[in-house]
Amino acid sequence: MGNGIAHVFSVHGFPVNLVDLHPAQLEKAINTIDKNLDRQLQKGTLTAEMKQQTLQRIKTFSDLENGVAEADLIVEAVSENADVKLNIFRELDSMASSDTILASNTSSISITRIAAVTRRPGQVIGMHFMNPVPVMKLVEVINGYATSPSVTHTVTEIAKQLEKVPCIVNDYPGFIANRILMPMINEAIISLHEGVAGVEAIDSIMKLGMAHPMGPLQLADFIGLDICLSILKVLYEGFGNPKYAASPLLMNMVAAGYLGVKSGEGFYQYTAGSKELVVSKQFTGHR
Ligand code: CAA
Repeated sequence: MGNGIAHVFSVHGFPVNLVDLHPAQLEKAINTIDKNLDRQLQKGTLTAEMKQQTLQRIKTFSDLENGVAEADLIVEAVSENADVKLNIFRELDSMASSDTILASNTSSISITRIAAVTRRPGQVIGMHFMNPVPVMKLVEVINGYATSPSVTHTVTEIAKQLEKVPCIVNDYPGFIANRILMPMINEAIISLHEGVAGVEAIDSIMKLGMAHPMGPLQLADFIGLDICLSILKVLYEGFGNPKYAASPLLMNMVAAGYLGVKSGEGFYQYTAGSKELVVSKQFTGHR
């Protein structure tokens, strides 16, 4: 999601330092931003000059220290691994200026826990963007236990400058977005597993009946089934409540490497360049 976050900040005039330890990832990110800016160009919401300026405002860094040295706000978007995030926040705390705000784009890891490894817990906050970041209007702003109200105010104002809608929540497992979304996705997978309905019927019911742009199974593929499983585990462990127990089918699919769009197959099968929704053979009875 880092490329999407860099995209929206830069398009709205903020100078951006995009940091990744792997130069190949930085190149990939810039190519993705370029392609997504072209979508806006084609739609007429951006001029060619604005696209060039947006790309020029993004500088890339493969070392953290130089990348964050002069930042006023750092938005961390590394993989959803608590140990990795905690280590990065320890480093950010030692490298960034003492008044820099440290935000995390985490979808489920506790902001309070992240803040506690820094010497500035009042300046640590969640800025949870949704995919695709340039399109989705929400920023879920998550207050950790010690986040200072002035930091919440600053981050909320920045989100508005990005033409997003900030919604402020407190730091409990899954926050609000995933506390509500993941049980819905899990219930869809449980219903499929029990044979209540097939993939297409489940997704069509939610698309046509509830006006969701994607059905829950397609959305799970889009998010990544491994991510869905790890968020469900956070809910299950965080609340100690069996209602969040992940579907065994979801666990099997993740163990087998069927992770959705990113692995090429989940509830649907994906072919590069095609937008057609093809149900995975695992669920059509044609294996
Ligand atoms: N980057 C930039 N723009 C993109 C894009 C991308 N990756 N993907 C699509 N778009 C733009 C298109 O240019 C188009 O813009 P206009 O309408 O302004 O022309 C618009 O989005 C619609 O795109 P398409 O017509 O190609 O495709 P679509 O109508 O099928 O919409 C979708 C695609 C926007 C992804 C839509 O299906 C959707 O809203 N899906 C649900 C997304 C969702 O729920 N996201 C949240 C996931 S949860 C999460 O992110 C956080 C978490 O913690 C798990």
